[in-house]
Amino acid sequence: MSYRVPFVDPREHYRRLKPEIDAAFTETLARGDLVLRQQLRDFERHLAEFVGTKYAVGVNSGYHALHFSLLAAGIGPGDEVITVGHTFAATVSAIVHVGASPVLIDIGHDHTMDPDALARAITPRTRAIIPVHLNGRVCEMDRIEALASAHRLTVIEDAAQALGARFDGRMAGSFGLSGCFSFYPLKALGGLGDGGAVTTNDPDVARMVTLLRFNGEDRETGEFHVHGYTALLDNVNAAVLDVKLRHLPGWIAHRRRTAGLYHKALAGVGDLRLPHFSEARHFDSFQNYVVRTAHRDTLREFLRAEGVETLVHWSRPMWEHKGLGLADPGLPETSRLCREVISLPMNAETTPEHVQITADAIRLFFARR
Ligand SMILES: Cc1ncc(COP(=O)(O)O)c(C=O)c1O
Repeated sequence: MSYRVPFVDPREHYRRLKPEIDAAFTETLARGDLVLRQQLRDFERHLAEFVGTKYAVGVNSGYHALHFSLLAAGIGPGDEVITVGHTFAATVSAIVHVGASPVLIDIGHDHTMDPDALARAITPRTRAIIPVHLNGRVCEMDRIEALASAHRLTVIEDAAQALGARFDGRMAGSFGLSGCFSFYPLKALGGLGDGGAVTTNDPDVARMVTLLRFNGEDRETGEFHVHGYTALLDNVNAAVLDVKLRHLPGWIAHRRRTAGLYHKALAGVGDLRLPHFSEARHFDSFQNYVVRTAHRDTLREFLRAEGVETLVHWSRPMWEHKGLGLADPGLPETSRLCREVISLPMNAETTPEHVQITADAIRLFFARR
């Protein structure tokens, strides 16, 4: 069905950037630069500059950014890695695939890692923490860093949803041993398909990720140093991402303005809880605009009928998916969020009219209740 307000609009996104994207695409193809060429190196340099780290290494997904970060940190069987229950399965799958044990904890009022829950979950087997900067909001990193250094734990940031978000003026992806980004097309910086990157200040981590993404081979010497994977960020994708990265600050400003419009239009409506948390130390990038209501499913159905497309991240806690083999960690706030959250349209192409239509429909829904 075609929506009056689509959740994302890839065709409009491309239409606006067509001359720049087409130029990058055709130049890369005309040169035959398909694998590990200058376009990838340029994008990595620009991404590292943007995040404020010494290195950025492109890989083929946010998942592999997490997996390789864990391997580069030496995490493996017998180790516990603490992360939140309210995240995409990829965060947890990366922990499982390196042979470590995921320890899932609850989130706080802003949907990110609760540092008090983190303090309670640390055991002698804990080796690493993966804070997840969800929806474009960085976790309370000062408290997480303090716990990590007190217990000598590695921090690997899942910044898949938070490129450009800041805490105390520092960028997501610049706090931990490494930061993990996703360029899945729905992300604020979305590529042509799957893509991701690891950011780090540690030369050994950058080197290990560079080896792991290319089957363990050092391209300069031809020596294979480790059993690796086939997981490069494609050159054509990097060329397009490099074009889009220049627009990202403007897109984030647009997302923040759009969030402000939603706030104005929806404050005090029904039982809605809006995602405007303390901004004193945070600069949120609003990867998603997630509201909470006890009437989530009926509201979503109503909005669909009104031509407004929404998504739910996520409707069931991860441990309820039996195939993942996770024990129920008993996280009441995570379970509550799964019942209440709904993501409203939010992207670089969302217009004030889109917000108006969405907010009018939501007000109508609650007026009729
Ligand atoms: C919080 C989080 N972590 C990890 C990932 C994995 O990224 P990718 O889909 O690029 O593998 C995502 C992507 O949706 C995500 O939202």
